[in-house]
Amino acid sequence: MISHETIEKNIGLLIVLTILIVSIGGLVQIVPLFFQTSTTTPVEGLKPYTALQLSGRDIYIREGCVGCHSQMIRPFRAETERYGHYSVAGEFVYDRPFLWGSKRTGPDLQRVGGRYSDTWHVAHLMNPRDVVPESIMPAYPWLDRPLDGSTIQAKMRTLNIVGHGYTEQEIAEAPAALAGKTELEAVIAYLQSLGTHAPKG
Ligand code: HEC
Repeated sequence: MISHETIEKNIGLLIVLTILIVSIGGLVQIVPLFFQTSTTTPVEGLKPYTALQLSGRDIYIREGCVGCHSQMIRPFRAETERYGHYSVAGEFVYDRPFLWGSKRTGPDLQRVGGRYSDTWHVAHLMNPRDVVPESIMPAYPWLDRPLDGSTIQAKMRTLNIVGHGYTEQEIAEAPAALAGKTELEAVIAYLQSLGTHAPKG
């Protein structure tokens, strides 16, 4: 048995044993999450993003919207009164990567789907001040340009590796679904899908 003193006086040994203990602690916390029904089962009605929503999500990532908007409603009254039901793990099953965010310069967007019309979103993204005069959100006028759909099939196939379950037909039809669409339409399709399967009550 190595004495505590020996470990404390031997920095190499201390490092190795610390890493060992921390990894066991980490594994005990993280590994079960991959097998718990509450974290791996989608909430009722949740489907993988459509080709258009998926492309919109990528633009949301590219434009850094997550830097100002969270998608994570905490179980506090101040949050649920404002945004709706708090977030549950099953809502994020098809979110790779997660876009929970940690900064709220603007409001949380997890329940924004259906709150505004598509026309409102167009106006808002072109120039937020046109609809919310006091807004400090940047304008995104360049989103009104053709969407590049050339990588959508590869993206869907890649997500299938981790279990998104797109059918061959959905993958085959994806480029046609994106043809003639703008980046703006894709972002709005994504925004309108957010929180539409929120738990009730
Ligand atoms: C610099 C911070 C900032 C960035 C970056 C930003 N926003 Fe915002 N956003 C805000 C603020 C502040 C508001 C609240 C005022 C308003 O409605 O314009 C807001 C409001 C919104 C709303 C309305 C939410 C509601 O519930 O009323 C939507 C939708 C939205 N933003 C989408 C986006 C999208 C999509 C992007 C990326 C293309 C983005 N935002 C980038 C700051 C930001």
